[in-house]
Amino acid sequence: MENKDFFGSIGNKIIQGDCLEVMRKIPDNSVDVTFADPPFNLKKKYNSYFDKHEIDEYLSWCKNWLTEMVRITKPTGSIFVHNIPKWLIYFGSYLNEIAIFRHWIAWDAMGSPLGKTLLPNHYGILYYVKSKDFKFYDIRMLHKRCRSCHYILQDYGGKKNQMHQFGPLVSDVWTDIHRIRHKKRRDEHPCQLPLHLLERLLLLSSDEGDIVLDPFVGTGTTAIAAKKLGRKFIGIDIDPKYVEITNKKLEDVRPTVINGCYISNFLDNVITIRDKDWDKIKDAFVVPKDPLELEKRKIYLLHKKGRAIKYEAVKGKQSDLFSMCGEEK
Ligand SMILES: C[S@@+](CC[C@H](N)C(=O)[O-])C[C@H]1O[C@@H](n2cnc3c(N)ncnc32)[C@H](O)[C@@H]1O
Repeated sequence: MENKDFFGSIGNKIIQGDCLEVMRKIPDNSVDVTFADPPFNLKKKYNSYFDKHEIDEYLSWCKNWLTEMVRITKPTGSIFVHNIPKWLIYFGSYLNEIAIFRHWIAWDAMGSPLGKTLLPNHYGILYYVKSKDFKFYDIRMLHKRCRSCHYILQDYGGKKNQMHQFGPLVSDVWTDIHRIRHKKRRDEHPCQLPLHLLERLLLLSSDEGDIVLDPFVGTGTTAIAAKKLGRKFIGIDIDPKYVEITNKKLEDVRPTVINGCYISNFLDNVITIRDKDWDKIKDAFVVPKDPLELEKRKIYLLHKKGRAIKYEAVKGKQSDLFSMCGEEK
């Protein structure tokens, strides 16, 4: 089937089913970004999936869907796999044979003590591509600041003048995104990822209109991130209950855009931007001009001070930020 016909029938959908069966129907080189957050084989309590298999059985199953992810990803596309280091070292060894390694992103997200181990304090996100011609955008995060005095924590020494007004380029260690701990922010799912984790991955690897596929979409984090950033999505989950939750949540999702640029926000703060967008969006923020002031004062969105700010609508829809500030366009 032609890609165009295929995505005409399947694009922007959450599909209930086995990811291998669904992915095998997807044409080669047709998806811009594939992201997988599979069950970790740790006896997690899912609604229906049983998360405990023999190691060989688990790894051979993983190899099957990793193969499919690489096959369906475009030569310009990106492949991301989230898991614990124990399994990622196997995945990496296999992926090295069929794709090109870019990064092991260490996501600092506190774990629980397991006894006779170092405290597991990071998850890994493997980042692979298929050719040298892959899409990639530099992204920036907010400066890390002291919680009480708000001073920037990084010591720029005599180079304060070179400090970026929004914040530094994102490295391969992510410490500013936290797991969802509050019950009121969680769905009925044991391992829902934070939305802005996925938004960051999509901002660095894809453009508006690109197709994003998640074979283990759970309660929809990847699909929601894609929709908020104007990307198309295909989410797959074996569990009908999670598919239902995702579809319900998707109904209320609106794009997050400032001055025509997609951004990632959380609790009224812009968390990630593309480096190349800063000049276009900075008039939406109050930013101290003097680096010495910037060092001690957070930048914030204009609407927090109740001043008029125009957030652009995308394809006739209000952006989240626009609706958050409750101001008229
Ligand atoms: C770690 S969770 C994904 C959570 C997701 N990232 C989120 O933020 O909600 C793994 C998901 O894989 C689903 N799953 C397990 N086996 C599957 C299969 N063979 N095909 C599709 N989904 C499967 C489970 O139902 C579960 O929702």
